[in-house]
Amino acid sequence: MSDRKKSPDGAAIKLLLPLIEAMRWGQPQRISEASESIVSAIEESHPAVAKKLRALTANSHTATVNLAAKVEGLVHFEEAGHGFEAVVLPAAVEAECRAIIEEHHRRNELASFSLNPRHRVLLHGAPGNGKTLLAEALAHELGVPFLRVRYGRLIGSLMGETGRNLDLLMEYAATAPCVLFLDEFDVVGMDRHQGGDVGEARRITNQLLIILERLPSTCMFLAATNANGLIDKALLRRFDFVIEIPSPGVDLQRQCAARELAPTLTPGHDVSKLAERVASLGLDSLYEVVELCRRIRRDLVLQQGGSIDALLGNVPSAEEVLDRNGVQLVADPFKCLPEPTP
Ligand SMILES: Nc1ncnc2c1ncn2[C@@H]1O[C@H](COP(=O)(O)OP(=O)(O)OP(=O)(O)O)[C@@H](O)[C@H]1O
Ligand SMILES: [Mg+2]
Repeated sequence: MSDRKKSPDGAAIKLLLPLIEAMRWGQPQRISEASESIVSAIEESHPAVAKKLRALTANSHTATVNLAAKVEGLVHFEEAGHGFEAVVLPAAVEAECRAIIEEHHRRNELASFSLNPRHRVLLHGAPGNGKTLLAEALAHELGVPFLRVRYGRLIGSLMGETGRNLDLLMEYAATAPCVLFLDEFDVVGMDRHQGGDVGEARRITNQLLIILERLPSTCMFLAATNANGLIDKALLRRFDFVIEIPSPGVDLQRQCAARELAPTLTPGHDVSKLAERVASLGLDSLYEVVELCRRIRRDLVLQQGGSIDALLGNVPSAEEVLDRNGVQLVADPFKCLPEPTP
């Protein structure tokens, strides 16, 4: 590495990115951390600039900072740590997701044809097959922050409170490019004609309809549910993409198991062939596939693989897990297998 690259100025330039992002999103804590890091990097070489920067970034009271304070607790601001490489997906789903990302990366070309990238996406499918994992990957691939909505505070007990919270959230999400993620979307997007408090549910759905119309295309509105049938039909129609994450067949399970049992994850062992056997067990979700593979890896470390056969082949049938009194101990045969003792 050259001296120029190692210089304090070089370090300060890199730190400009988190500073600008924190200012954009109105986050005083991150602003002061990033600013202090820059100040320490340039204090010796540019003392006057350092002093001015410290004064400029101290006690910011911009409109965005005020808005960010209002949405505190409604949304969790995250940097997604993985891209598509971390998610095992059917080829068609992956292709669709890559096409969505491409629209966003080529937004300027679309704009010259008076078009915006499509940005309202609903992921649905049975639990444990990667909806949340994929949502994070989409944010990572777009290179934007991942704003995870927290229902605890969003759903207010007072009349109209949920609506006001939704408005604030949308105003904040329109600040700059981001993914706004609403997991378990059925909680707010339930059919207006179902459920208990029909009046309030109707108001919330109507408001979501307006929000979905108004939200700028710089914000990807990403919702996930495993109860697609409960979602209001008018809301469903507002999504540009409704993507099913199907329950995994043998091929996908094998692919997922092969990754989890890759020799790089089992130093000194090669159990990659077991992927086939894991896939043949017909587990319900990729979550279960991943968990079983992790048990196998743990067993390799703790018992030199002594319980792998039991984990895979000799899975006792439901009858075999009856205790002496004839009482069934566990419904799931895997759960009866003891965790290897450390
Ligand atoms: N497609 C996948 N690729 C890789 N790992 C997966 C996949 N699906 C599930 N997993 C594993 O299972 C865990 C749970 O997956 P995830 O939370 O994304 O499922 P989900 O579809 O969002 O489930 P839910 O409907 O319960 O919210 C992941 O953290 C990962 O370890
Ligand atoms: Mg999920």
